[in-house]
Amino acid sequence: MIALMSDSFENEIPHINFKDVSFSYPGKKENLIFKCNLSIKKTGLWMVIGKNGSGKSTLLKLINGIIKPNNGIVNSKANIGMVFQNPDHQILMPNCRSELMININQNISDYEIRKRIEYVLDQVGLTGFEKRPIYTLSGGQKQRLTIACALISNRNFILLDEPTALLDKTSQLKVLKIIKNLTNDHKKPLSALWITHRYEELTYADAVAELKNGFLSSWQEPSKFQYN
Ligand SMILES: Nc1ncnc2c1ncn2[C@@H]1O[C@H](COP(=O)(O)OP(=O)(O)O)[C@@H](O)[C@H]1O
Ligand SMILES: [Mg+2]
Repeated sequence: MIALMSDSFENEIPHINFKDVSFSYPGKKENLIFKCNLSIKKTGLWMVIGKNGSGKSTLLKLINGIIKPNNGIVNSKANIGMVFQNPDHQILMPNCRSELMININQNISDYEIRKRIEYVLDQVGLTGFEKRPIYTLSGGQKQRLTIACALISNRNFILLDEPTALLDKTSQLKVLKIIKNLTNDHKKPLSALWITHRYEELTYADAVAELKNGFLSSWQEPSKFQYN
């Protein structure tokens, strides 16, 4: 099932569309997300900024279908990969190679597997890390491995939920630049939706929307947010 999905979406530009989407958790009267409209039809680095508790993670859950809206329509035509704040909550295997292996969802030869592993590790700046045990990796390196896992499983749309929240400044910038490069790739550009509460990260975005008091703004130029 998963292999089929990745095959069918591999060469398509992903497409996310929200029409007047409202959501509240059971037992809560107020809408956490209210009449939200969101459209992503092009590749690139899209960012959503919002304060703690503003509903950013909830928005991602609506996009990947973990939760359903109370009102409105969510349309996602994408092969979605997730990168969470804490890579330790997502990495399952003892070393880089085995972690990547469990994310390959196609039947390919050993030779092809080796090539693919080398290629995605290169793409995230982890060249030569195949045999490295996970416990020897820094937080930033683990985060880059989770991105490599999304790439090796042919995801064409990556949702990143505050992926730099636990990282130091240097690793933070490395992860951000890797995603930026992947979304700028001329041959096979990726779409990424990057969730953050850090204004300084917005300068890397192609477009920014703000989630505030349940409302999601339209897409804006990143420069609009520079002095907030
Ligand atoms: N499963 C849940 N059940 C009930 N309330 C939740 C649940 N998940 C999150 N919330 C509440 O919804 C609000 C927004 O949460 P969240 O989407 O995680 O915000 P953010 O990611 O912006 O910090 C918070 O007040 C949080 O307590
Ligand atoms: Mg969150």
